[in-house]
Amino acid sequence: MTFTSASEPTAPSAPPASTRDSAPGSVSGPVSEKVAGAGPGMLDVFHPAHRPDPYPVFRALRESGRFHPLPVGEGSLTLISHYSDCVAALHSGAWGHHSLPSTVNPFRPGSDSGEGLRSMLRTNPPAHTRLRALVSKAFTPRTVAHLRPLVTSQADALLDAALEKGEADLIEAFARPLPLRVICTLLGVPPEDEETFGAWGMALSRGLDPDYLLTAAELAQRAEATRGFAAYFTELIAQRRAAPSDDLLSRLVTVQEQGDSLTESEMLETCVLLLVAGYETTINLVANGVLALLRNPGQLSLLRADPALTVSAVDEMLRYDPPVHWAGRVALEDTTLAGHRFAAGDGIVIVIGSAHRDPEAYPDPDRFDVTRFTGSAPATRHIAFGFGIHYCLGAALAKMEAEIMLTALLRRVRNLALTTDRLTYRPHLLARGLETLPVRLSA
Ligand code: HEM
Repeated sequence: MTFTSASEPTAPSAPPASTRDSAPGSVSGPVSEKVAGAGPGMLDVFHPAHRPDPYPVFRALRESGRFHPLPVGEGSLTLISHYSDCVAALHSGAWGHHSLPSTVNPFRPGSDSGEGLRSMLRTNPPAHTRLRALVSKAFTPRTVAHLRPLVTSQADALLDAALEKGEADLIEAFARPLPLRVICTLLGVPPEDEETFGAWGMALSRGLDPDYLLTAAELAQRAEATRGFAAYFTELIAQRRAAPSDDLLSRLVTVQEQGDSLTESEMLETCVLLLVAGYETTINLVANGVLALLRNPGQLSLLRADPALTVSAVDEMLRYDPPVHWAGRVALEDTTLAGHRFAAGDGIVIVIGSAHRDPEAYPDPDRFDVTRFTGSAPATRHIAFGFGIHYCLGAALAKMEAEIMLTALLRRVRNLALTTDRLTYRPHLLARGLETLPVRLSA
């Protein structure tokens, strides 16, 4: 019951033959007649050809049925694409991570070959409740508030440099370095180690996808990043134990809740999780969001005219093109979802990107509308940060970063234009992000 067994690759570096050789739309998994009709299967949904715009295939998925069993060999794995079913699964205690193979898990730090680390994201209550309470005591709203001046000054400094050049890859010049600086500051990593740390972050987040989609080099990079990270943080944790400073790591070392504290390995797992969960996701929020504005000039003008719309605009960016496209769960007991029976051990893939375009949840869902989350009747809440007990611990931080970055960008840069329409996406399935965002910009 893993993605890997779903369509065994001939080589670890290659995607399944069916996804490589056939046109999108022509490959359907063995979709149960009773359940899904003749809709697209997983191989369609995750076909590389759809990466620039996966939303039409998500629509076809929703319109062809609620539940889409996937070809995974033994066991059962089902795609869930309707908003209400996604929310119900994320909310229900019947679904969790108990026996879910790691290849179906988002934010899987390390690898599934035994060297990887397990974080709170992959635990169920009561272990999850305990870990989350301890980490939340160290990672507080004050922690986020303290980072605000850094984000503001960094955003300005990065824009100064980009404006001077007049042309830039907005990811490399702006969207990437800022979240990296923030996560490093949070964890107490000095600026001289930032680039190493960033490279580990990218290797680990690439490594979240099913192994058969990774090249041998990517698998090796993931293993190396896991080892490098563990060695680096073991040392840093020892330093903070000896001499605590004002960073999150020092607070994690000293945090106490009813006489309980984090073990060495739990601290390490939490650091990896914060890096993997908080770095590339935030880059993608900013880059996907700016792209949506550039492709919808009317919405860009609206936002320029009324910066108070920024909060709503960031929520709309998270809904319209979410940085994390799916979440995995396994049934911890026999259960039902919208009347459909699942047996204990069955797996599901909650397709966040599809839930966000469900017309039953969002009127005119394919329209990018920066006012959608304003007014006395704002839109249905999105699930870009998940829902329920695993709701993103860094949501407030990510939104604060994006709001400040967006505000600075629109205030400082009067003219912003793409220099090409030929944009490519990173090959990740879980994280949705561009390789580059080449722009021309002037004050
Ligand atoms: C735009 C940026 C971000 C997005 C889209 C995002 C998305 C998500 C999602 C979807 C989940 C839940 C996954 C699930 O239920 O399976 C999650 C959990 C989590 N995120 Fe984020 N995240 C972002 C930024 C951050 C940041 C900046 C941090 C911290 C520095 C962070 C830390 C976490 C942690 C610790 C969890 C696990 C919570 C738990 O298991 O209780 N995230 N995130």
